[in-house]
Amino acid sequence: MTTTPAPKLHLKGITKSFIAPRSGQQTLALADVSLDIEDGEFICIVGPSGCGKSTVLNLIAGLDTPSAGVLEKDGKAIAGPGADRGVMFQDYALMPWQTVQDNIGFGLRHGTPGKQFTPQQREERIVHFIELVGLKGSEKKYPHQLSGGMRQRVALARLLANGPDILLMDEPLGALDAQTRLILQIELLRIWGQTAPRSQRKTAVFITHDIEEAVFLADRVVVMSSHPGRVRAVLDIDLPRPRDEHVRAQPRFGELSEQIWRLIRDEAYRAIDGSEPTRTEPAESAA
Ligand SMILES: Nc1ncnc2c1ncn2[C@@H]1O[C@H](COP(=O)(O)OP(=O)(O)O)[C@@H](O)[C@H]1O
Ligand SMILES: [Mg+2]
Repeated sequence: MTTTPAPKLHLKGITKSFIAPRSGQQTLALADVSLDIEDGEFICIVGPSGCGKSTVLNLIAGLDTPSAGVLEKDGKAIAGPGADRGVMFQDYALMPWQTVQDNIGFGLRHGTPGKQFTPQQREERIVHFIELVGLKGSEKKYPHQLSGGMRQRVALARLLANGPDILLMDEPLGALDAQTRLILQIELLRIWGQTAPRSQRKTAVFITHDIEEAVFLADRVVVMSSHPGRVRAVLDIDLPRPRDEHVRAQPRFGELSEQIWRLIRDEAYRAIDGSEPTRTEPAESAA
């Protein structure tokens, strides 16, 4: 008899409410969120601002706890943060007083992730990840000497050097200019291992509000809606891998982006100024 392994991440009926400390006012950030993520999958979560994307990520990271529901990794309840789940945010979060190589090596040299390696292996790992993210030659620089794109390369190398099996990324490219962002999307897929067999890829959960970024990167896109945060739809991104910039010119790329935009458009308009969208196309059902 064969048993199917537990999904890498299992979220079932997750609810999360926040209580404001002074007023006691309750915000229902997530309501009944269920999602299974398989080992080696690249999942993007999109949705309007405030729909609970960061809350989902923080729960998986163990930085916060659900109010109700089941939250498991490899079939075991997530009880807190761990080196098995690495997190990367928009704002670099580098230590300004440390060089590139010291930032990348920090967890390895001083934290739990390094315990499984000898000192020499740790230093080799640091060199390996510096090269992998394209920072060779900048090892001795300080964060203020780097562009935003290079800083995020440092943050990515640090994340990977710690050897997590799940990569959690909350709008990591959100602060970058458009061109740098496109380059780093391609770099991210290379580094994640899109040419490697699926069994060798890491599970990635990537939050973005950029629909095309989500379609470009993901195996599946989770579209959320807000107030309260729910999973509105989960779309398979059936674009072949490896993907490069040419994939954006494929009709299927446009179709998928359009489909996601339709799912979040009305809410996105309301979030900006309370208005309803101007309908420029004929009836949607005509498609
Ligand atoms: N620590 C917190 N305390 C109170 N409310 C919070 C807290 N974190 C998030 N929220 C609220 O929960 C909802 C979801 O927030 P968040 O997950 O940050 O959304 P997103 O990342 O999609 O923009 C929002 O209404 C937000 O104001
Ligand atoms: Mg957020």
